[in-house]
Amino acid sequence: MKSKAIRLKSVKEYYFSQKLREVAGLMKSGRDVINMGVGSPDLKPHPHVTNALSSAMKHPRANMYQSYQGLPELREAIVNFYKKFYKVTLDPNTEVLPLMGSKEGIMHLSMAYLNPGDQVLIPNPGYPTYASVTRLLEAETILYPLKLENNWQPDFNTLEALDTSKIKIMWLNYPHMPTGTDANEKIFDRLIKWAKKSEILLVNDNPYSFVLTKKPKSILSRPGAQQVAVELNSLSKSFNMAGWRVGMLSGKAEVLKEVLKVKSNIDSGMFFGIQQGAIAALKTKSNWFKELNLIYQKRKVLMMKLVNNIGASVDIESVGLFLWAKLPQGAPCAEEFIDEILYKKNIFITPGTVFGTQGEGYVRFSLCVSEATIKEAIKRMES
Ligand SMILES: Cc1ncc(COP(=O)(O)O)c(C=O)c1O
Repeated sequence: MKSKAIRLKSVKEYYFSQKLREVAGLMKSGRDVINMGVGSPDLKPHPHVTNALSSAMKHPRANMYQSYQGLPELREAIVNFYKKFYKVTLDPNTEVLPLMGSKEGIMHLSMAYLNPGDQVLIPNPGYPTYASVTRLLEAETILYPLKLENNWQPDFNTLEALDTSKIKIMWLNYPHMPTGTDANEKIFDRLIKWAKKSEILLVNDNPYSFVLTKKPKSILSRPGAQQVAVELNSLSKSFNMAGWRVGMLSGKAEVLKEVLKVKSNIDSGMFFGIQQGAIAALKTKSNWFKELNLIYQKRKVLMMKLVNNIGASVDIESVGLFLWAKLPQGAPCAEEFIDEILYKKNIFITPGTVFGTQGEGYVRFSLCVSEATIKEAIKRMES
């Protein structure tokens, strides 16, 4: 065998891919580990979504290759969804592109825009894929710190001071994972103005806008956004469809056209049944989100008890699928802290450092576990 690609030196195996193997090993050895680490919704999709998938199997085109741009009905459903919930108008032919999960969109967009040596602004803490994809493409990551004292929002003095000549993309992710900070429209407006001046493509990664928020927000609803910004969105968390792999990229037609050049050379369309399920999901009435959030809210209240038990603290206003818990003074580093809980209490939580250096001193709890399981975790922590 000849040697592997040099670019692989810039990344490690994804944290969860590695750690969940260890957790699986512990479980195989007989330990009953409670997984509060990952944001994979345990609740079911709406029955009309699964019914749409089952009925689709009888369709004569069900097993055939599908369009690279997704079914026209799916693009239409995305347009209606953006209109209804975000008050954003999009053209179904040029301004929406269905994806197999938003994670793949991070790679496609980056492949469409980045050359080796280009720079990319990435939140710290933030979803690890922005940085690893940037490195895989031999571009340079410029981490912008998000800090508690700035309510986990970008600091404009830092942005203004940057040499932006080589920066092509700025990743945003509001509502923010892992901190649970909601989107702030005034900050979106400032970012849009700054990105326009600096000729930077803003990409808001928006999978959490329905989870525990008062109102879903999209950067595309802000004035001028459609000239400089695009948005990734996903059915994974909003519709309990993480394993179905359905996401979308919306906004500026010119950007989507370039992304399609990459994507259409990589995959051969999304399975027909999944597209039919996604169409049904996107048509779900808004009550769906209210009912889901009632469940998540109850879990959050219980989970806060667990957080208090370990001496950590959280912001009760936080949104999204996770609690971002600040460890008490004198606690060991986040990775040591979670390993101790994993090995002594059989509970897996995520160390904040997975999301960057600004995550030191924090751990992340997922709300994708039942109330009964949270109660069991509380009991374990008290024993
Ligand atoms: C911030 C963020 N972006 C993107 C994703 C990927 O979501 P999808 O399932 O749509 O690929 C996740 C998943 O956890 C996430 O937390």
